[in-house]
Amino acid sequence: MDFNEQYDIYLKAVEKKIEEYFKSLNIPQKNVLDAMKYAITAGGKRLRPVLVQAAAEVCGADMEDAATVALAMECVHNYSLIHDDLPCMDNDDLRRGRPTCHKVFGEDIALLAGDGLLNSAFEILSDKSRYKSISDKALLKIVRCLSVASGVFGMIGGQVVDLECEKCNDVTLEELSYIHANKTGALIRGAVKCGCLCADNDKGNEYIDILDNFAEKLGLAFQIKDDILDFEGDEAVLGKPIGSDEKSGKSTYVTILGMDSAKEYLDKCTQEAKAVLEPLGEKGEFFSCLADYLLKRNY
Ligand code: IPE
Ligand code: IPE
Ligand code: MG
Ligand code: MG
Ligand code: MG
Repeated sequence: MDFNEQYDIYLKAVEKKIEEYFKSLNIPQKNVLDAMKYAITAGGKRLRPVLVQAAAEVCGADMEDAATVALAMECVHNYSLIHDDLPCMDNDDLRRGRPTCHKVFGEDIALLAGDGLLNSAFEILSDKSRYKSISDKALLKIVRCLSVASGVFGMIGGQVVDLECEKCNDVTLEELSYIHANKTGALIRGAVKCGCLCADNDKGNEYIDILDNFAEKLGLAFQIKDDILDFEGDEAVLGKPIGSDEKSGKSTYVTILGMDSAKEYLDKCTQEAKAVLEPLGEKGEFFSCLADYLLKRNY
C-alpha cells in the first residue's frame, strides 16, 4: 500500500470516531457542544491520530482500539488550538480556513469548549467499554502518557514559555528549542508512545523508544515548518493567518536563524528523524514517508 493510501485510512478511521463520538454526546448545553464540534470537525491534517495508528499498527495492536485512542489525542490537539487562538494567547481570527472558535461562539464558550475537549479525551480513554482488547493496565499508561505530554511538563509548559518570550529580543536558540520541543513536540511524541502502548506487547516495548526518538526529531521539524509557513505560506492554502508570529512578536526559527538557515535546519532535522528509523527496516517506511510529506507540506 502506498503512503497516501495508508495515511487516508488512518485519517478516515479517526474522522469516523469523531463523528460517532459527537453524535453520541447528548448534553443540554448545545452551544458548548456546537463549539466543540465546530473546532474538531473542521478538518486538519490529523497528524497526531495518524501517528497513534501507525505506531499501533507496526506493533500489532487492535486498530479499532487504536482509532479510539487517536480520537482522544485529536480532542486534546483541538482544545489546544482553540485556546492558542484566543485573544489572550495568539489572538488569531482564522483556523483551517474558517473563523476561529471564539469568533463564532464568543471567548467564554470557546474557552469552555476547549476545556470540554480536554476532558472528553480522558473520558474516552478511561471508558473501558469503548475498547475490545486494551488491558486496564495499558489504558492507565496511555492516560498517564497523554496527561504528561499535554500538561505543564509538556505542551502547556511550552505554551507558557512561548508567551513569556513574546516581544523579547534576546531569545536564545536553546530557549526556542525548549518551546518547540514542548508546545508541539510533546504531543507528537505522546502520539507515537500511546500508539505503542495500545499494543501492550513485546513489540510495543521494543519500538517505543525508537519511535519516541523519531517523534522528538519530527516534532521539531514540524514546528520549524510551521514557523516557515507563518512567513511565506499562502493563507488560502494554509487556512490560518500569515504573519501571526510577527504580529505577536514571537521568536521563531525564521526570526532567529533567518529563512535560509531555518530551511536548512528543517532538512537536517527531517534527515535525522528518518535515520532513527533504521532498526525498524520496512516497518519504518510509513514514518519515513511521513517525515518527507511534512517537510514538503504547504498547510
Ligand atoms: C498546528 O497544528 C499547531 C501546531 C502545533 C503547529 P497542525 O498543523 O497539526 O494543525 P491541523 O490539525 O493540521 O490544523
Ligand atoms: C501552537 O503553536 C502550539 C499549540 C497549539 C500547542 P503555534 O501558535 O505556532 O500554532 P499555530 O501556528 O497557531 O497553528
Ligand atoms: Mg501559539
Ligand atoms: Mg498560534
Ligand atoms: Mg505557528
